[in-house]
Amino acid sequence: MERTLILIKPDGVRRNLIGEIIRRYEMKGLKIVSIKSMHPSRELVEEHYAEHRGKPFFNDLIEYLTSGMVVACIVEGSNAIKCVRLINGATKYYDALPGTIRGDFACDETQNLVHASDCEEAAKREIGLWFPEG
Ligand code: CMP
Repeated sequence: MERTLILIKPDGVRRNLIGEIIRRYEMKGLKIVSIKSMHPSRELVEEHYAEHRGKPFFNDLIEYLTSGMVVACIVEGSNAIKCVRLINGATKYYDALPGTIRGDFACDETQNLVHASDCEEAAKREIGLWFPEG
């Protein structure tokens, strides 16, 4: 069993897509083992996206993530990291295939609805950041 972190970003919450997004993970047999909604601090989001600091889109990304409520989930299942990323679709909305979350709903490079950890190490780090209570 593997665990990964997913975030439903503020555009996903504003567009009432929380249920639709979670349904897609559950349909694949993945379990939501923790879930919470929060308005994240700038500090948390900057730490989460530390690898993107200095990139041209970094400031817009931080403004966007702190612009409203975010739903954070720990998702568990066999090969959860890979499965979730396939369900989410490519980062860029114009590369994301129909049938994926971004392929079906995203239409902006920054506002792409969801985030998912990209490897085991990132999952461990990101789960620790968003669920520090353990
Ligand atoms: P995510 O998968 O959470 O990882 C980094 C985020 O930065 C990405 O989703 C997008 O929200 C954003 N992002 C990545 N590339 C770009 C880009 N070229 N222009 C604007 N935003 C981007």
